[in-house]
Amino acid sequence: MKKFTLFFITLLYLFQIINAQLNPSLRKLFSAVLVGEKLYIYGGFMDNENANAQKTPDYRFFYLDASISFDTSNLPWRAIPDNVKNLPLGSLSSVATGGVAASNGGANNDSIFFFNNEVAKSVSPVLSYNSLDNVWNTQNLSGVKPIGRNQMRAITDNKGKVYLLTGFDFTVQGVKRTDGLFVCDTINLNCVIKDAPLSRLGYGVTLLPNGNLVYIGGGNRNYIPISDGFKVIYLYDPINDKWDSKVTTGNIPPADVGITTVLGLSGDKIILFGGNNGDNNNLYVLDTTNYEWYVPQARGKGPVFKRGEHCANVIGKYMVVTFGSNGVLQSKYRSSGESDVLLLDISNDSEYIWKTSFDPTPLTINSTPSNSKPKANNIGVIVGLTIGIIVLISILSISTLFFIRKYKIYKNSKPIPTPGNVLNNEEIMSIPSDYELSHKKFETLR
Ligand SMILES: *[C@@H]1O[C@H](CO)[C@@H](O)[C@H](O)[C@H]1NC(C)=O
Ligand SMILES: *[C@@H]1O[C@H](CO)[C@@H](O)[C@H](O)[C@H]1NC(C)=O
Ligand SMILES: *[C@@H]1O[C@H](CO)[C@@H](O)[C@H](O)[C@H]1NC(C)=O
Repeated sequence: MKKFTLFFITLLYLFQIINAQLNPSLRKLFSAVLVGEKLYIYGGFMDNENANAQKTPDYRFFYLDASISFDTSNLPWRAIPDNVKNLPLGSLSSVATGGVAASNGGANNDSIFFFNNEVAKSVSPVLSYNSLDNVWNTQNLSGVKPIGRNQMRAITDNKGKVYLLTGFDFTVQGVKRTDGLFVCDTINLNCVIKDAPLSRLGYGVTLLPNGNLVYIGGGNRNYIPISDGFKVIYLYDPINDKWDSKVTTGNIPPADVGITTVLGLSGDKIILFGGNNGDNNNLYVLDTTNYEWYVPQARGKGPVFKRGEHCANVIGKYMVVTFGSNGVLQSKYRSSGESDVLLLDISNDSEYIWKTSFDPTPLTINSTPSNSKPKANNIGVIVGLTIGIIVLISILSISTLFFIRKYKIYKNSKPIPTPGNVLNNEEIMSIPSDYELSHKKFETLR
């Protein structure tokens, strides 16, 4: 009987270790990039209470496992294998200098490209992370040196080109500029800069099915919202390198920065979420067939607090909102019990639904060829992993039992230490606000 109890306790301990989940800090102005069924989160300004997280690799770069069902009260955040060893923290611009911009890229669309800002002079401007091989590389792009900031939204088109619209003064190849669109080809590995009729930070950008990009909202170089930022929107046609602007009508959202925009599943609607200022309404939709704004029908328990400087990605039938801040008191949504992840079911355009549970079943409608591995492979991996874990548990349990029996340490058995306590001894780094930083930055740039 005693043996059985011991065996059971050992199993529980081991299960706890294997099943250990990350509990990432609150953050804003970070990057969220979907690769297959993993939503990778990188960097950002973090909660001051968790300043150590800035330097802890597993809280800098991790992912949300969107291959399984989950409830937003218990999020499947996962650590990246060997991340502590592999993450090149010293080669990625820190938030203290303006951060990085990140987006999908690579010949097989299975990498994330990271664009450093202009302050980091001694490191490579572009780095990549391959999600399949779990390998980091410095990328040597020819052409101009791109600038990525955490207030610039990077977006990748269907040809592996990343677009970075700037919102400040900068110098490229000895030439001073006040605006520009960096276009970086992650397959042919080169980068150019194009003129742009607008200069923005904290904007939204959406890739339309026809390949055009739509730039919406955001603020000026001091992060002050552009007053007609939602009324006048800008379209960029990459094939003809042509800009166009449209004057929108309808229920035009009030000026705002720190917003996100995603493309609706029907391909003709742009869904705007959150922001730093504006009104208390979290959701607006722009119909791209007539450029008319409206407030969509949304049922279910939506967020109480408006969020800004968050990220939004479309995964399956959901718009998935991650983290973000709400004003000065950043953890207001957390302390009121709201999740770091919000799920909006956008499968029915006449009525969106806020959900607390995620269903990973792929959408059958609107299916586009994706680069994720065939399901059979995944099943193989899952079966393999499961068998591996069972074998591991068995081996560990048996050896633990053997050990306990041999040395008869029934009474003095100590709990297995967890790595959580290590963090407390690290020095605390104070984090300036993003506004302070961007302001300072702009000052030095003038
Ligand atoms: C870029 O150049 C560096 C230094 O020469 C080299 O170590 C690295 O492997 C190159 N990266 C790629 C992807 O070729
Ligand atoms: C690249 O992968 C992302 C994430 O899986 C996907 O959203 C995007 O459509 C893919 N792009 C191409 C060109 O396949
Ligand atoms: C979409 O929502 C509308 C409004 O609630 C509803 O009448 C309609 O049946 C829904 N369509 C589907 C396919 O669920």
